[in-house]
Amino acid sequence: MSTSGKNHTVTMTDNASGKSAEFPVMHGSAGVPVVDIRSFNKEFGLFTYDPGYTATGSCQSKITFIDGDKGILLYRGYPIEQLSEHSDYMESCYLLLYGELPTAEEKAKFSYDISHHTMVHDQITNFFRGFRRDAHPMAVMCGVVGALSAFYHDSLDIEDPWHRKVASYRLIAKMPTIAAWAYKYTIGQPFVYPRNDMGYAENFLHMCFSTPAEEYKVDPVVAKTLDLIFTLHADHEQNASASTVRLAGSTGANPYACIAAGIAALWGPSHGGANEQVLNMLEEIGTVDKVPAMVARAKDPNDSFRLFGFGHRVYKNFDPRATVIGKAAHEVLDILGVHDPLLEVAVELERIALEDEYFIQRRLYPNVDFYSGFILKAMGFPVSMFTALFAIGRTVGWIAQWNELIEDPEQKINRPRQLYIGEPSRDYVPVDKR
Ligand code: ACO
Repeated sequence: MSTSGKNHTVTMTDNASGKSAEFPVMHGSAGVPVVDIRSFNKEFGLFTYDPGYTATGSCQSKITFIDGDKGILLYRGYPIEQLSEHSDYMESCYLLLYGELPTAEEKAKFSYDISHHTMVHDQITNFFRGFRRDAHPMAVMCGVVGALSAFYHDSLDIEDPWHRKVASYRLIAKMPTIAAWAYKYTIGQPFVYPRNDMGYAENFLHMCFSTPAEEYKVDPVVAKTLDLIFTLHADHEQNASASTVRLAGSTGANPYACIAAGIAALWGPSHGGANEQVLNMLEEIGTVDKVPAMVARAKDPNDSFRLFGFGHRVYKNFDPRATVIGKAAHEVLDILGVHDPLLEVAVELERIALEDEYFIQRRLYPNVDFYSGFILKAMGFPVSMFTALFAIGRTVGWIAQWNELIEDPEQKINRPRQLYIGEPSRDYVPVDKR
């Protein structure tokens, strides 16, 4: 629970008017305290300016905590390293949604409920057929997830906790079906229906890779690793897509529309789209000897190119998810007997970048996206599916953030202000006088 620190205030003075005002400092249970500037405009008649929200806290949250300097990521207080080793995605979903780890009985019930919501209304298949075969899976997901609100009218009342719960379960459960079908559609194969007797990741692999013509046996190592990838991506506090979901949610929009907005925000190459771009970039580099030239490009102030998979707004030391996934990538590729020459390029790129003054000074380290693509590629996913897989894992985080927003009495419609630098008021000029 956030509290105002005892007598901890920040005093600000407007040099123009000479007016001073005191603002309370709020202390959370961990992390950097925040200054409560809600009365700032009333006190000074000014707004604050913070493009990219680099210094702005937009909400109080109990879900996920990140310490970017120490490389700490906690879901409801539990370190990501411990969850990666001992937990699984279904348990992490329950934890993120409900705040506590489930008992064995609660976990079994939750997994059962999720697996029994994986089917989508059959008419939704028509939506897929309306897309071009070469549509990007994220484009399909934005459209189909947004369209769910047209099919599930019984879970649109955001004030009703039961409606919210049903919508939350539906979204977590149906996202793999939608992503798998987006993939099947692009390769011209029939849609494969979900199986209730399979685990979450296992079922997704089954829907992606089985065909009616041939039995497909899901490799348990692959299913376990995919489950780990989903767990690592499950939430990341107020990142761009979660903030988008919250912003859309603040207007009272229905959950399916809000999650579709989150998918759209995730797609960008600065965010979830980076995992796709990492592999494209490594393919462009091709061989280890070409790495220095790419690093030089990334450092060139006259070139807007950036090394995909490097840098993070919050992590300025290391990304703990990257540590877990980097280790898993090497292990899984070994177990699967996959030799990917691009992995050597990645290792060399990481080595050179980590020793380079440019990257050290700016505290740019590999992020979670740097290695995840290797695993997904080894599993047989095309590069265009990488961000869709991220979206599956992140759906629970978006939903947990959205539910928290709806239940937060302090939340209002999100509506930033601006510094207007356009033309001042002027009179309309008739067309013959221009
Ligand atoms: N390669 C080269 N230079 C970089 C990179 C990079 N990947 N990232 C940042 N920089 C440089 C910037 O050019 C800037 O340099 P300057 O001070 O000389 O102008 C400096 O580092 C700071 O960069 P900002 O853009 O201010 O940092 P910000 O915190 O806003 O950006 C971001 C974070 C968007 C992740 C950025 O590092 C980036 O674009 N990385 C590549 C894309 C990527 O991997 N995104 C995935 C993020 S993780 C995720 O969403 C799951």
